[in-house]
Amino acid sequence: MQIFHTVPEIRNWRENNQRLAFVPTMGNLHTGHLQLIREAKRHSDKVVVSIFVNPTQFGVNEDFADYPRTETADCELLAAENCDVVFLPAVEDIYAANAQTMIRVSQLSQNYCGATRAGHFDGVATVVCKLFNIVQPDVALFGLKDFQQFAIIQTLVRDLHLPIKLIGLPTVREIDGLAMSSRNNYLNEKQRLCAPQIYRILQQARDNLIAGQSIFEIEQQAISELKQTGFEVDYFNVARRSDLQAATVDDKALIILTAVKLGKIRLIDNLWLDK
Ligand code: PAJ
Repeated sequence: MQIFHTVPEIRNWRENNQRLAFVPTMGNLHTGHLQLIREAKRHSDKVVVSIFVNPTQFGVNEDFADYPRTETADCELLAAENCDVVFLPAVEDIYAANAQTMIRVSQLSQNYCGATRAGHFDGVATVVCKLFNIVQPDVALFGLKDFQQFAIIQTLVRDLHLPIKLIGLPTVREIDGLAMSSRNNYLNEKQRLCAPQIYRILQQARDNLIAGQSIFEIEQQAISELKQTGFEVDYFNVARRSDLQAATVDDKALIILTAVKLGKIRLIDNLWLDK
């Protein structure tokens, strides 16, 4: 496995290579990330993984400085997965000191996580676009746990005519249902016991939707139950999967999306359903 830190290094390597699959990450790798890498192998000759904690997608009061940085352990995991290349740039390799260009996927970035995390998705869209330009993959793989992020990246690939096939993979969960996340490491024992309730309440909302309960009632019920369980609720919404607009009774392909906080730790999850 080769480790590159600069843009010229990976560009130079890229020139000689065949079909390339790319998995962008912020590191602190867990089984959710590794599943993306295993799937990437099935679609390509070589797999590139980037580890870059992207400053522009963190708000001023968010956890950029504290985000877990575990590059050595991450590289060991990646070597064990037979990953071909790790791209591990410094902030200065990605953002020139006077960088002025940002990418914004306007409409899709407004709601849900975008409503409370101003500029977050502009940071994501910008860094993903830069990484795509640097690595020039044929295929790129993302987790559907971050469904809004995936929808935004799909839109940017379409709008900018990038010749990249996107693959979204289902959420990988702990045995008790909690969606795997680098932020789970911060949960204390009590919070960790509470966290699987997110998935349980999502499942209950899905069952109630199938049983014909109104979307409004389901959302209100879930919010109140999450609050009683000890979560601060950022949002809990039923949306159309196609465009992430609020779902109506006639919509068939739905997604239930939620973001909650336990203390300072923000967790997101979602569940699909086809009526
Ligand atoms: P990060 O949170 O490290 O996630 C990297 C990739 O792993 C994303 O595509 C994410 O959706 C996926 N992932 C995370 N947890 C998962 C789980 N439990 N199951 C399946 N996939 C999971 O998302 C980012 O980094 C960044 O925003 C990034 C796209 C790298 C841009 O900076």
